[in-house]
Amino acid sequence: MAKFKLAPSILAADFACLGDQVEICLQEGCEFVHIDVMDGHFVPNITMGPNVVKALKPLLVKYNAVMDVHLMIENPDTYLMEFAEAGADVITVHVESCGRLSETVDMIRSLGVRPGITLNPDTELDNILEVIPNVDLVLIMSVNPGFGGQEFVPATMKKIADVRTILDETQSEAELEVDGGIKVSNIHSVVQAGASVVVAGSAIFDSGTTIAHNIVEIRKAANM
Ligand code: DX5
Ligand code: ZN
Repeated sequence: MAKFKLAPSILAADFACLGDQVEICLQEGCEFVHIDVMDGHFVPNITMGPNVVKALKPLLVKYNAVMDVHLMIENPDTYLMEFAEAGADVITVHVESCGRLSETVDMIRSLGVRPGITLNPDTELDNILEVIPNVDLVLIMSVNPGFGGQEFVPATMKKIADVRTILDETQSEAELEVDGGIKVSNIHSVVQAGASVVVAGSAIFDSGTTIAHNIVEIRKAANM
């Protein structure tokens, strides 16, 4: 059995019954819940903020799941405290929106939150290499951030493998998360390439039959 953690991206959920849908994911054993925060500046879409993190926190505590906050916003430093207070366990920031990535990472850790870093598909890995030893999670974006339901960018597969090599060579226990376009058809290769956390939005909330059934199918596909 391939070992990985599943992180439903609630961006694809039905917001009218968000709590119920998240609880189904947690009952199905999802270890993370992925919160896509977008500000209409860093990406051309507006989604949700700390109030959603706060509202879902008791549910995640009940199931012992990780509140995984992915900030796709300008000036993330300004909002770190609010997300920490709302209950984020991991806060991931984009190198493209951080003037001083390493200071932002330190700031996240000083708030008692696990720091993550990420980069867009077109951004070279070189831009984050120096900071990788200081983080608890490296997120590889496999679509251009902004929207759910996009196609996986195949070129990111090499980046996943390269980060896996770096983490293994340095005996780092940081999570390697992959986000965007994950489906039953490609999850096996992503996990094989070294992902330890896999984000799935539309594949869980917006395809096939029920949420529970989609989660079972995704896990099955990963292990085939
Ligand atoms: C994209 C977001 C992703 C996205 C994933 O900007 O960061 O988390 O919601 O959705 P799917 O799985 O539908 O590509
Ligand atoms: Zn995301």
